[in-house]
Amino acid sequence: MSLRHIITLNDPKLRLVSTPIERIDDLLTRLIDDMIETMHGAPGIGLAAIQVAEPIRLLVVDVAGKEDPPAPLVFVNPEILWQSDDRNVYEEGCLSIPEYYADVERPASVRVRALDRDGKEREVLAKGLLATVLQHEIDHLDGLLFIDHISKLKRDRVIKKFQKAAKRAGEGSHVL
Ligand code: NI
Repeated sequence: MSLRHIITLNDPKLRLVSTPIERIDDLLTRLIDDMIETMHGAPGIGLAAIQVAEPIRLLVVDVAGKEDPPAPLVFVNPEILWQSDDRNVYEEGCLSIPEYYADVERPASVRVRALDRDGKEREVLAKGLLATVLQHEIDHLDGLLFIDHISKLKRDRVIKKFQKAAKRAGEGSHVL
C-alpha cells in the first residue's frame, strides 16, 4: 500500500465528472487500499478517487470514532436512491480544501446503492454524519465541492485565498 497525493482546490481536475467503474480488478483494489490508507493518514473520514486524481466513481469513508477500531467502507459507483425531506447542518471540511470549514445543510438521511470492493451490490440507509459524508463524497464524483453549497461570497473568498497561496508558493520556489 502507499499514500497517494491529494489534490487541492486550485487543481481543475476536482471539477471533472468521474466515470463509472466497469470492472473491479487488482489495479482497482490496490487503489482502494491506497485510498483507505491515505484517508486514515490525512486524517479524514471520507475520500473520493478524484481527490487522488483518479476520475472514477469510487469513494471510501470511515466514520468510526477515534477510540474505535477503523471501519472503512468502500462504495463503487454509488447512487443516491432516496433522500429525506428533513435536513441537517454539519460543519464540513475537505481534504482538498485544507483548513477551511463551513456549515452545510443537506438531507438528514439518504439511501445509497453501490458495489463493495468484492463487486457485491449493497444498499445503505445512512443517517447523521454518515449521510453527510456520503453526500459530500458523491458530490466529488460529480465535480462538486462542499463550498458549492455555501454563499457565493464565502466561496469566492476561499477560492481567492487558495489562488493567492498557490501564487506565493510559485514565486518562492526554484525549479532546479
Ligand atoms: Ni471532500
